[in-house]
Amino acid sequence: MLQIEQNVSLKNFNTFGIDAKARYFTEINQEDDLVELFLDEQWKNMPRLILGGGSNMLFVKDFDGIVIRMNIRGIEHRINHDEVIVEAGAGEVWNGLVNYCVDHDFAGMENLSLIPGSVGASPIQNIGAYGVELKDVFHSCKAFEIATGIFKTFTKDECGFGYRESVFKAELKGQYIITHVKFQLSQTPHLKLTYGAIEQELTNRGITEPTIKDVSKVVSHIRVSKLPDPSTIGNAGSFFKNPVISTDQFAQLQAQHPDVVNYPAPNGVKLAAGWLIEQCGWKGKTVGNTGTWKNQALVLVNHGGATGQEVYKLSSQIIDSVYTKFGVSLEREVNIID
Ligand code: FAD
Ligand code: EPU
Repeated sequence: MLQIEQNVSLKNFNTFGIDAKARYFTEINQEDDLVELFLDEQWKNMPRLILGGGSNMLFVKDFDGIVIRMNIRGIEHRINHDEVIVEAGAGEVWNGLVNYCVDHDFAGMENLSLIPGSVGASPIQNIGAYGVELKDVFHSCKAFEIATGIFKTFTKDECGFGYRESVFKAELKGQYIITHVKFQLSQTPHLKLTYGAIEQELTNRGITEPTIKDVSKVVSHIRVSKLPDPSTIGNAGSFFKNPVISTDQFAQLQAQHPDVVNYPAPNGVKLAAGWLIEQCGWKGKTVGNTGTWKNQALVLVNHGGATGQEVYKLSSQIIDSVYTKFGVSLEREVNIID
């Protein structure tokens, strides 16, 4: 039986720790709960927000509608020779799933260790870190279509994955609720060690033949050293995407700023937003209750008691100053809930 609560504080449901309120709030523990909820015209016609771990959203005001928190649990796997198919409920904690796979020696997810949030949200922005993206391990997902009440399976091709992008953020935005995700992993490791400080950290530990457990530990260690822990300092990870600019624009930019941090990208050149922001003098700066993280300028933080508007205002100031100095437009990665 569905429980619907009223005037619920979302402070413990978003990693920024913003004290916004939901007019209505419900938790989905099984697929049938979604069917039941949306059979009722009252809920079907009301503004709604699908919530996982709340680690990629900023509430700039109270939510005047129904917040639907996904809590469908369960992890299962099926082994077929070298291939392993793992299926998890949308409400499973992402890092719990990664640990499950690493503990079973199912290879493929180890570089995605310690990313906060839920399994159900992982396809939404095609989460990525340390040279691996969700799309590299994604098999398919099951989703509930709100308009029809029908469950549909999306294959990888149908998801339109890109850098921090998918159909669920674009043309199908707000239309589907993901209930389960299937992953395709392998019993043979294909380690990806070239990104960032992974190799260096393995060397520091004297590891010459790393296992997936080693990689998971090293990635977790690097992340902890760079990123603030949301349980003590409110944040939502990278606040902006790393911008991709054309090769022409890049040539001009590099002529003026020879040390601009950049990476090749399929449709141009990707810049490190953290570098751009740091060059504008924002790194580690405190503005009221907000600021940027001392070890990573791309991460905006709530030092305590910040409102969503304050964080949003800071993000606008950062966008303006990066544009003024470099002529590059930063795009917010975090979902703004207004
Ligand atoms: P939420 O914040 O709850 O929701 C995010 C979006 O997905 C919202 O639009 C929501 O409506 C929608 N949504 C959620 N669940 C569902 C569902 N079941 N069906 C349909 N829509 C849904 N991200 C990376 O990619 N790489 C990183 O390295 C990374 N590092 C981070 C580090 C920190 C410290 C933090 C706080 C965040 C980081 N993030 C990173 C961002 C975040 O972890 C991911 O975006 C994560 O997938 C969000 O999961 P969530 O369950 O918290 O989603
Ligand atoms: N840099 C600076 N100053 C800073 C931060 C970064 O100069 O304050 C420069 C450095 O040269 C550094 C480079 O930027 O080498 C890249 O920084 P980092 O390795 O920290 O990665 P990022 O590009 O800032 C991206 C993702 C992260 C992901 C890491 C590791 C985006 C928007 N962010 O960050 O994802 O964990 O790579 O793969 O793509 C997230 O999405 O929330 C997130 C944390």
